[in-house]
Amino acid sequence: MNMTDSSTSDLSVVILAAGKGTRMYSNLPKVLHRLAHKPLLGHVIDAAKTLNPAHIVVVYGHGGEQVPNAFAQPGVRFVKQEPQRGTGHAVAQAMPLIPLSGRTLVLYGDVPLIRAQTLAAVCASAQTLVVLTAELADPAGYGRIIRDKSGKFLRIAEEKDATAEEKAVREINTGIVAAPTKALAGWLMSLKNHNAQGEYYLTDIVPRAIAQGMNVASVNAANLWEVLGVNSRAQLAELERRYQHEYALRLMAVGVTLRDPARIDIRGDLHCGQDVEIDVNCVFQGKVHLAEGVVVGANCYIKDAEIGAGTVIAPMSVIDGAKVGPECRIGPFARIRPETTLAAHAHVGNFVEMKKVDLGEGSKVNHLTYLGDATVGRNVNVGAGTITCNYDGANKHRTVIEDDAFIGSDTQLVAPVRVGKGATLGAGTTLTKDAPPGELTISRAKQTAIAGWKRPVKNKAG
Ligand code: UD1
Ligand code: CA
Repeated sequence: MNMTDSSTSDLSVVILAAGKGTRMYSNLPKVLHRLAHKPLLGHVIDAAKTLNPAHIVVVYGHGGEQVPNAFAQPGVRFVKQEPQRGTGHAVAQAMPLIPLSGRTLVLYGDVPLIRAQTLAAVCASAQTLVVLTAELADPAGYGRIIRDKSGKFLRIAEEKDATAEEKAVREINTGIVAAPTKALAGWLMSLKNHNAQGEYYLTDIVPRAIAQGMNVASVNAANLWEVLGVNSRAQLAELERRYQHEYALRLMAVGVTLRDPARIDIRGDLHCGQDVEIDVNCVFQGKVHLAEGVVVGANCYIKDAEIGAGTVIAPMSVIDGAKVGPECRIGPFARIRPETTLAAHAHVGNFVEMKKVDLGEGSKVNHLTYLGDATVGRNVNVGAGTITCNYDGANKHRTVIEDDAFIGSDTQLVAPVRVGKGATLGAGTTLTKDAPPGELTISRAKQTAIAGWKRPVKNKAG
């Protein structure tokens, strides 16, 4: 129980996720399909958690134990519904796992974009059955909200059971409902499956509540996309774009320039300072932080990274698991791999790969280079075509390059090896022993010119 918010501490959330998802044509249970890299059910669980409920129970069915295995986490329990006899039957499976006191909120595992604010509105009143409804231009397939002339909520008519007149109603049941748990448990016990689908309909709780004199209220969903479910891969793709669009709007609202809000993908959490600029087709995954004034060029992939203020990332760069200081220059075509840190004013240029590197302040690695398992000091210049030979076939070894060193082009540093402060390596050097500070070290066959040498000429065809 959370002592700071007693209003939600008696809340139980039941998430329905037993449906087969036939139209996905997939071996993966529908709720494990990903939206913004997170399974659909993950979005719903996260939305539920914002209400700080005392219990979350997921009703699952298909795909063996894949669903419980994918979401093993404290505070979330699972109950199997087999066979699936309808939404009322599904909720009934969860009842033995939750206390009869307090309220229960029913969510769908395949309705991923539901917002916390909307759920809070559905859960607001303690002694009422609340149904989240929506107005649809085309209500086909949904349960219709049937009201009397005065607008009083009477019942929900499922599409397959509805009369022509009822089918004309455009106010629909989203499926999301909240009710006092004890009353709900009683209604569920009395459900009958005398309907077109031979199922136990959760929707039949409405007339039962009315018969008991309980208030039945509706909350209208502010955004239609919040209550849309995923039944096919096309719908999944639609909701993905919707999710991305909403995220893009939030970024722009806090001062981010998006060259095209329709061409950005955020698969996790992207935090941006003011005046960040992001060009088209960038993907951000995991936790990414872009400090003030960061510029990200087109077609970049940035994952679990922190980028310092004023840093410019040129197009086609990949950054994964790195911490980049302020005022750096990266790319185009740079690949920065996990456990790499770049200090302020570092430059990493085209076709440069780095892994487990600490690159010091003001150091430059501008062209065609692989640095792995290396510590590089300040103001070091690494020439084009430099390679740290960090792997001997069995173990990885570290290269240390001290401050102010100059690494000539086409150099191999055979680790473990150290380049002293201010040392210069001549171009083409294969460094197998430490290079002393302040000296020129070079390993290169002496250049010779063969006097009188002639190029071979092609034999005459004989
Ligand atoms: C249900 C509602 C309908 C509403 C619609 C919104 C009922 C009877 N009808 O329709 O009024 O407009 O949702 O989408 O409630 N599920 C289970 N076990 C089952 C059956 C369903 O867990 O035995 C789950 C599904 O995985 C899904 C949700 O419940 O997440 C809704 O099931 P679905 O079959 O899509 O809903 P309908 O019955 O068509
Ligand atoms: Ca449905």
